[in-house]
Amino acid sequence: MTNLHPKPRANTAPPIDLPVAMLAELTHRCPMRCAYCSNPVALERPECELSTAEWRGVLSQAAAMGVMQVHFSGGEPTARRDIVDLVRYAVEEGLYTNLITSGVLLDAAMVSDLARAGLEHVQLAFQDSEDEGANIVGGYHGALGKKRAAAGLVKDAGLALTANLVIHRHNAPRVGAMIDMALEMGCERAEVANVQYYGWGLMNRAALMPSRAQLAEMTATVRERQARYTGRMVIDYVIPDYHARRPKACMGGWARRFLNVTPTGKVLPCHAAETIPGLVFDTVRDRPLRDIWDTGQAFEAYRGDAWMPKDCRSCERKEFDWGGCRCQALAIAGDAAAMDPACDLSPHHAAMAAMAEDEADADARAFVYRAFGAHKDSTF
Ligand code: FES
Repeated sequence: MTNLHPKPRANTAPPIDLPVAMLAELTHRCPMRCAYCSNPVALERPECELSTAEWRGVLSQAAAMGVMQVHFSGGEPTARRDIVDLVRYAVEEGLYTNLITSGVLLDAAMVSDLARAGLEHVQLAFQDSEDEGANIVGGYHGALGKKRAAAGLVKDAGLALTANLVIHRHNAPRVGAMIDMALEMGCERAEVANVQYYGWGLMNRAALMPSRAQLAEMTATVRERQARYTGRMVIDYVIPDYHARRPKACMGGWARRFLNVTPTGKVLPCHAAETIPGLVFDTVRDRPLRDIWDTGQAFEAYRGDAWMPKDCRSCERKEFDWGGCRCQALAIAGDAAAMDPACDLSPHHAAMAAMAEDEADADARAFVYRAFGAHKDSTF
């Protein structure tokens, strides 16, 4: 059962940390339709998005409360006509700016304008090192060529570039080629990130899950490239939780380090929090950002350790993983306050691992593509 009434913080609870980073999901519009997208299945409609003035207000409030980094995301953030204006405004407010983009809408003029506005970093997502694989999982013809061109523009503009390499059962054999591609494009960093199963990714889990054997091979390849490219490119590696033994510190701990603002201004402790029943999400249209962070019901729900199961509260890793992922506990164990099933001490751990192995061994299913309202299968 989901814990619908998380315990309120005790008067003796430790002081609340302030967030270091804000994910600003400017829009859920995106020309790509990636089957692994972590956006919610119920995408927020364009006509309800925050205005430029409202986003400026959010950026000012974030800077005033001590946020240091803003990550402009989506959807595709460059689908907003005001992206350059918002980057410039964030820079003026003293925020470090990162653009998380598919790259397919970037052209020379936009990259030049973004660089002049003060943008410091670009994170460019890649689906594959080969056209066919990229086309199929992204639901978009010709994406890889556009992304390579975008990477060249970003480097020419002198901006720092990270390649986000999203890995699943279909492109796992090309993980080495994808890392090599990132190095050739001049990336300072490559994030080799297995799909995280939230939103559309959770809906397509059985079509995307790699096997344990694939994971072992991929890990060996990543370790080899990390050694070979030391001093030339930093390579981060994120494995799928379903094959892990210990949970990740999701969001650096619930309501400790990060907040998300959705296109319509809802303020979330994590990108999948809306899947958890019983949480109340305030919006920046109704309350100041700092109030929401300090006392919003959704932020208080799993902050600290009062909500944790007894075994988590006494665990020596408690202040390392902060109890793992609440959304995953809900998705697998049916209770957001349960132990994260990624932990091998969870009573649900073995079932989760077996489910992943069964899904990875089964014939690949057709993708359900990300879309507003309608779904399509993998013939696009
Ligand atoms: Fe929500 Fe991990 S995605 S806590």
